[in-house]
Amino acid sequence: MSPYEPINPLDFRNVMSHFPTGVTVVTGAPEGRPAGMTIGSFFSVSLDPPLVGLCAGKGSTSWPLIEPAGCFTVNFLGADQANLSDHFASSAADKFDGIGYRAGITGSPILDGAVAHIDCETDRIVDAGDHHIVIGRVVELGVDRDDGADGEPLLFFRRTYGTFAARS
Ligand SMILES: Cc1cc2nc3c(=O)[nH]c(=O)nc-3n(C[C@H](O)[C@H](O)[C@H](O)COP(=O)(O)O)c2cc1C
Repeated sequence: MSPYEPINPLDFRNVMSHFPTGVTVVTGAPEGRPAGMTIGSFFSVSLDPPLVGLCAGKGSTSWPLIEPAGCFTVNFLGADQANLSDHFASSAADKFDGIGYRAGITGSPILDGAVAHIDCETDRIVDAGDHHIVIGRVVELGVDRDDGADGEPLLFFRRTYGTFAARS
């Protein structure tokens, strides 16, 4: 039994919104059927072996479509892809209708216009409250847009999209 008062979920969300993140779309295509969802909780885990992680909500309808593939791709969205972020954060029936992509080596979609991609095999899935912590072992990766301003990332801070500004 914790001696501390329960945390108000609204306070938790509000404080967490002050921590800026990049924006990714995590994709997979079990049996050739592409699925994807917007994920901000992406993080680097280990260099040797190369591992990355993300948190997928248990209420997501897309994660159960991606998971059976046993592999997934993390697409880093560019500054001009806020619409794509909103699209993949929706519960649209076929999120890939009209979306340009190519298949990576695991078969997971690499989205046109993404700044970079990281293709993974699922290493393990850890149960954590109302989310799954998904750890992926990196099998292929690349920067797809590093041509100056075109390679700028999409950021998310206080529930608003933004872009990166270097200090000098
Ligand atoms: C900027 C942004 C970041 C998000 N980050 C996450 C995240 O880290 N984990 C998660 O489960 N959902 C996250 N979401 C919400 C999911 O994208 C959304 O709930 C989900 O894709 C709904 O569609 P689904 O039912 O098809 O899964 C984020 C949404 C946005 C707009």
